[in-house]
Amino acid sequence: MSFRLQPTPVDRPNRCQLFGPGSNTKLHPKMAASAADVINLDLEDSVAPTDKDAARANVIAATKDIDWGTKTLSVRINGLDTPYWYRDVVDLLEQADERLDQIMIPKVGCAADIYAVDALVTAIETAKGRTKKINFEVIIESAAGIAHVEEIAAASPRLVAMSLGAADFAASMGMQTTGIGGTQENYYMINGDQKHWSDPWHWAQAAIVAACRTHGVLPVDGPFGDFSDDAGFIAQAKRSATLGMVGKWAIHPKQIALANEVFTPSEDAVAEAREILAAMEQAKANGEGATVYKGRLVDIASIKQAEVIVKQSEMIAGA
Ligand code: COA
Ligand code: MG
Repeated sequence: MSFRLQPTPVDRPNRCQLFGPGSNTKLHPKMAASAADVINLDLEDSVAPTDKDAARANVIAATKDIDWGTKTLSVRINGLDTPYWYRDVVDLLEQADERLDQIMIPKVGCAADIYAVDALVTAIETAKGRTKKINFEVIIESAAGIAHVEEIAAASPRLVAMSLGAADFAASMGMQTTGIGGTQENYYMINGDQKHWSDPWHWAQAAIVAACRTHGVLPVDGPFGDFSDDAGFIAQAKRSATLGMVGKWAIHPKQIALANEVFTPSEDAVAEAREILAAMEQAKANGEGATVYKGRLVDIASIKQAEVIVKQSEMIAGA
């Protein structure tokens, strides 16, 4: 470990972030009753330009009128390249209930994007005497976002989570794709006459995880558009979990249970992790730094790997 220790991210479950348009008030109570850990009321791309003002008012009302239980409540504001975002921030910070936990800033391209929102939020919080500090989450969904991912992850102490937004990311990168996330028909290796598909989202996900883990921010996988394809969603979510992401968005309620299942360590995984910890305790008692568990080497690094799984499981169970 470097002399500079890796900071710990916020200690709360973030297995599923359920989205719903701010303009669709009928969905809001259903979102509150769902099993998602995080709720994202949207003012951005699921809201038509003519509905922006009404959606903002709906979302402010929803922070006051709906019982969101223990969920993290977040609102996605419009991007800094639009004429809407400043009004989103001003109205939310001046008028929303203190139940609001977080705002999500889409399409961030550099640390200064977050600095600008932070300055505005801080001024309004102080002027209005708000006691609860609003957290930020961001979406990396552009070439600039991924190029500057580390400075973005370090941009503000308010920042708690960062998601990959596959569709806007693909468009910004000039990728020849249409689906939102998942397998891409033309991204394959060939071996004789056998095709093997690769994962075009892999490097962006890994870059996000590294930036997030360096700065104590939760890395999250974004949307999977084809909500009729459960197997595709699960495969994408499992790849994300394997790479270190803690959760995934749901753009339809049927994706919530799938995300919760994948991002909750399984009983088998937790049992194995506990056995590895016990084997290492025994090794330590014998004065050894390494031992054999089920025919394979485990050592002091294995303790840290096993602890990731056990701690995640305990945090979710205790939430
Ligand atoms: N949150 C909570 N409940 C939802 C929901 C959501 N995001 N989306 C749909 N539902 C509800 C429906 O109201 C319906 O409820 P009912 O059984 O009481 O009638 C049920 O789930 C089944 O919905 P379904 O008919 O399959 O979908 P739909 O046609 O009503 O809506 C979408 C489909 C994609 C338009 C809708 O899911 C949606 O708006 N998703 C979020 C989009 C979004 O926020 N995008 C931005 C982030 S990428
Ligand atoms: Mg987007």
